[in-house]
Amino acid sequence: MLKIGIINGPNLNMLGKRDQKIYGNLTLEEMNCKIKSFAETEGIELVIMQSNFEGEIIEFIQQNSSKLNGLVINPAAYTHYSYAIADALRDCSIPVIEVHLSNIFSREDFRGKSVTAPACIGQIAGFGCQSYILAIHALQDLLEKKSKNIK
Ligand code: DQA
Repeated sequence: MLKIGIINGPNLNMLGKRDQKIYGNLTLEEMNCKIKSFAETEGIELVIMQSNFEGEIIEFIQQNSSKLNGLVINPAAYTHYSYAIADALRDCSIPVIEVHLSNIFSREDFRGKSVTAPACIGQIAGFGCQSYILAIHALQDLLEKKSKNIK
């Protein structure tokens, strides 16, 4: 059974209350339920965390990546400046996909730069909650191909 970690960065605990035009009206809990129900139908186990603290996110990556097959991370504002999270992602030996609820390229200039995405195998942005589901699906596909040695 695949085990995938989902990491949510700062302020994502405020979903449902934050700018709904950009982030939608689902709370983090409601979004997690949707993601979990998709994972369940695919037989994937999820370990989900959210933190407003950079160090906690880094410790989660360091302490859990050896027990996980892959990671989906929304580093939130850390996307744009956390070289520490980028290093932690580079140091973990599992595939990581970066996700964003909003299309970061269609917003303020500073959001168009991700320092964490280069440490990931890819990025999915702009599909709300579906960004996470697409990322889990992409990881599943990648890990299945890897286990069968398909290119
Ligand atoms: C976000 C985009 C970031 O720029 C922002 O700081 C967030 C959320 C997104 O999911 O669209 O907090 O990561």
